[in-house]
Amino acid sequence: MNPEIEKRRTFAIVSHPDAGKTTITEKFLWYGNVIREAGHVRAKANRSYTVSDWMKIEQQRGISVSSSVLNFPFEGCMFNLVDTPGHQDFCEDTYRALTAVDAALVLIDSVNGVEKQTIRLMNVCRMRHTPIITFINKMDLDGRHVLDLLDQIENVLHIKTAPFTLPIGVGKLLKGVYSIAENTFHTFNPDDGKQEIIQMTGPDDPRLVELCGENWVNQFKEEYEMVTGGMDPFDHERFLKGEMCPVFFGSAVNNFGVRQLLNAFAKLAPPPMVRNTDKRDVKPDEDAFSAFVFKIQANMDPKHRDRTAFLRICSGSFTRGEKVFHVRTGREIRLAAPTAFLAKDKEVIDHAWAGDIVGINDPGLFRIGDTLTDGEKMSFTGIPDFAPEHFARVTLLNPLKSKQLTKGLAELSEEGATQLYEPLKSAIPVVGVVGELQFDVLKFRLQSEYGADVQLDRVPAHGIRWVKGPEADVGKFADEYAMDCMMDKERNLVCLFPNEYRLNLAMKNFENLTFAETSQG
Ligand code: G4P
Repeated sequence: MNPEIEKRRTFAIVSHPDAGKTTITEKFLWYGNVIREAGHVRAKANRSYTVSDWMKIEQQRGISVSSSVLNFPFEGCMFNLVDTPGHQDFCEDTYRALTAVDAALVLIDSVNGVEKQTIRLMNVCRMRHTPIITFINKMDLDGRHVLDLLDQIENVLHIKTAPFTLPIGVGKLLKGVYSIAENTFHTFNPDDGKQEIIQMTGPDDPRLVELCGENWVNQFKEEYEMVTGGMDPFDHERFLKGEMCPVFFGSAVNNFGVRQLLNAFAKLAPPPMVRNTDKRDVKPDEDAFSAFVFKIQANMDPKHRDRTAFLRICSGSFTRGEKVFHVRTGREIRLAAPTAFLAKDKEVIDHAWAGDIVGINDPGLFRIGDTLTDGEKMSFTGIPDFAPEHFARVTLLNPLKSKQLTKGLAELSEEGATQLYEPLKSAIPVVGVVGELQFDVLKFRLQSEYGADVQLDRVPAHGIRWVKGPEADVGKFADEYAMDCMMDKERNLVCLFPNEYRLNLAMKNFENLTFAETSQG
């Protein structure tokens, strides 16, 4: 494989809010020499934890931009870290981010153990067979027992664990972690932050007792026996299939165990992997360039009303200014100023390789899932589509801003967070979202970015269906169900069924039609 491609590591962090994602990201950037001082990037960017947090993020746009994707070098590797919001109302964003990566870091808080949101996200990783590395954070707190945590990962997240390190001591009395493979002891000293790595002969090395005390060492030895004797040894093949995960223990805020974790990513996580398209599999080191859009973000820089499309490059490389083929529209386009994201700044890059995530300016051309190639007509598959579950009518409160509202609704729906519908019998647009918090974000962003003050009135609905079938039948259905019918942005007919009864009746009366739950279905 081309060495430039081989050194790429592209991953996302999967975690519950508050597990320490922001903190660990800072440390990564610090190791990558991207920020001078850990603690420098202090925004909970893109965390989307609560609406008020989101609004704060809005005010600090510069930082949230950078955190969508971060590129940093470490130990000869080039890392692309894709940010994922922890809150479940924004899970679509996370699902999409997971389509763009080759591995994931699952971050678990030692006190709370595996949390609900992590379970959901882990299901997506499993579906995609994403290789996982687990970091159990906050070991400086009195958390759960080590074996309980491992047990929970295995039983709740359904993945075999292979601990690479084990802690000695716990909470305030944490003495350090022992590396099973290397037989080294990594000392923890929260007071002066000094860390030492000491070579040991094995878990019976008398120096361990000197450093940690007999009781802690005895407990550790029991755990060591259980782990090395009773659990399957690490198997790289199983790791690559997403069936087994290396586990590390540490404390992000104390910068303890973070370097070992990054080393593991460099050594164990795969370089860019083969990707599927509707025509054939694409290997990363093919000469021909190919990429897909997995995220679109509008108005990242409020001073220049812009839109950025985030590309995952799947094969080959491209040079700034090169022309590429936009498969959906059949047009050739020039990628004028691709950007990489380094902490607070974004910078224009001249060259990018398979595995890289780059941002490109989007003049309104791109949609999530779009494929770009050197000319070949193929489309990457596996970018999920989500059926919205909550709906609202959008009424404009300051009527002079109707143009802005139209623009805002269109642009924000192109980002993929909300879907926009045009009812057949009303001029008032309807929006649909997967998570309710997105309504608040939509209202806020329409106001702050487009100056459109809106009221969102909920439309109670059982579910939305894409109505497909012979044209005549679709037309007849649209007449009969006109009050509940709308057009989506591709001008497909959808019906918002108010209750299950109406849906069942429609399915019975229109046997030639299908009522799909997503636009792709
Ligand atoms: P998130 O992005 O996953 O939501 O989590 P974030 O990094 O913001 O961390 C959540 C809280 O947990 C922060 O405290 C952070 O300092 C703390 N934290 C992170 N890693 C560790 C660790 O290893 N040990 C301990 N004890 N705490 C840790 P906060 O009080 O919410 O914020 P701040 O005042 O520290 O900024």
